[in-house]
Amino acid sequence: MKLKVAVLGATGMVGQKFVQLLADHPWFKITTLMASERRVGKRYREEVNWIVSSDVPECARDIEMAPMDPKHCDADIVFSALPSDVARDVEPKFAGEGFVVASNASAFRMEEDVPLVIPEVNPDHLKLIEVQRRKRGWDGFIVTNPNCTTIMLVLTLKPLMELGLRRVTVATMQALSGAGYPGVPSLAITDNVIPFIKGEEEKVESEPLKLLGKFDGEKVVPAGIKVSASCHRVPVIDGHLEAIWAEFDRSVEVEDVVRAFESLKPLKDLPTSPEKVIIVRNEADRPQPRLDRDAGNGMSVVVGRLKKVEDNVIRYLALGHNTVRGAAGASILNAELMVKEGYI
Ligand SMILES: NC(=O)c1ccc[n+]([C@@H]2O[C@H](COP(=O)([O-])OP(=O)(O)OC[C@H]3O[C@@H](n4cnc5c(N)ncnc54)[C@H](OP(=O)(O)O)[C@@H]3O)[C@@H](O)[C@H]2O)c1
Repeated sequence: MKLKVAVLGATGMVGQKFVQLLADHPWFKITTLMASERRVGKRYREEVNWIVSSDVPECARDIEMAPMDPKHCDADIVFSALPSDVARDVEPKFAGEGFVVASNASAFRMEEDVPLVIPEVNPDHLKLIEVQRRKRGWDGFIVTNPNCTTIMLVLTLKPLMELGLRRVTVATMQALSGAGYPGVPSLAITDNVIPFIKGEEEKVESEPLKLLGKFDGEKVVPAGIKVSASCHRVPVIDGHLEAIWAEFDRSVEVEDVVRAFESLKPLKDLPTSPEKVIIVRNEADRPQPRLDRDAGNGMSVVVGRLKKVEDNVIRYLALGHNTVRGAAGASILNAELMVKEGYI
């Protein structure tokens, strides 16, 4: 029998991606959809401005939008695609009432007792769930996935830790869907690049240290690396592209880095897990958002243009689908891992 799931913020950019990815999910079935108060009591298809595929999936079309209240939630797992300020207020109410909350929002990501997880990177950080329940007295709990730019970056950094990674510099070219719906005004972004995304650089510089840190039984000890980011919005619909300079404490060859990328294995028996976590392209002009964002059903990260720029510095490009691997797909993979590990 399938587990029942709810989506909070179901009408937004990430919420729509959740509905699309959950529609044919082998383990999960959508039972509850919630958004802002004005939508309560109306059917999902009447309220959503559906933009992620040609039609609203059959299973969600006629669901009546429920009030944002745990009392109205009929689900085993609650996926949250709420703006951070709303999530800060709403998510603890659901966790307090015994729900498992898998959140995309940044509100709780960096709190000491909240797991920030990428299944291929730090699955053991789920052990923070017990710490969180004990500290907060909740029956349920909150587990988060990283910012959409952080996740592509960290998937590539994880295998590099073994090579003596110590410093990372990243310049991003981020897609429009990362700003939600309706997002950036067309007159601001057409024929343009916007060299500032509020709060983004801070997230990309801090989240990797927690993700790559070690769980010591009570908390995560941050990784001893330094990340410096410059983030930019570009006129691409989906797919964040990142230029990354990785500096090591020793001399490193491109072949070492390629071998390390290829050593990062997908998790077995999870429906959303891709066949390959990192795909290395050898062409001079890849990865590209339009060509590579759907690799591994949007769950793979595609890297290319590897170059040794100093004895201990390798430059490469990484690309991933920001609303799939960077958001809804990331939360769903976390939920699948929690099911497999017996947390749900
Ligand atoms: N877009 C990405 O690539 C991405 C990636 C990673 C993480 N995230 C994070 O995911 C979250 C959602 O992002 P998004 O891009 O999907 O944003 P969005 O398109 O603006 O969608 C926001 C959703 O939240 C609902 N909402 C807004 N205010 C609310 C309120 N006061 N009460 C109840 N519901 C409310 C909206 O409902 P109405 O339609 O009814 O207003 C809508 O369903 C954010 O925290 C974001 O930072 C986004």
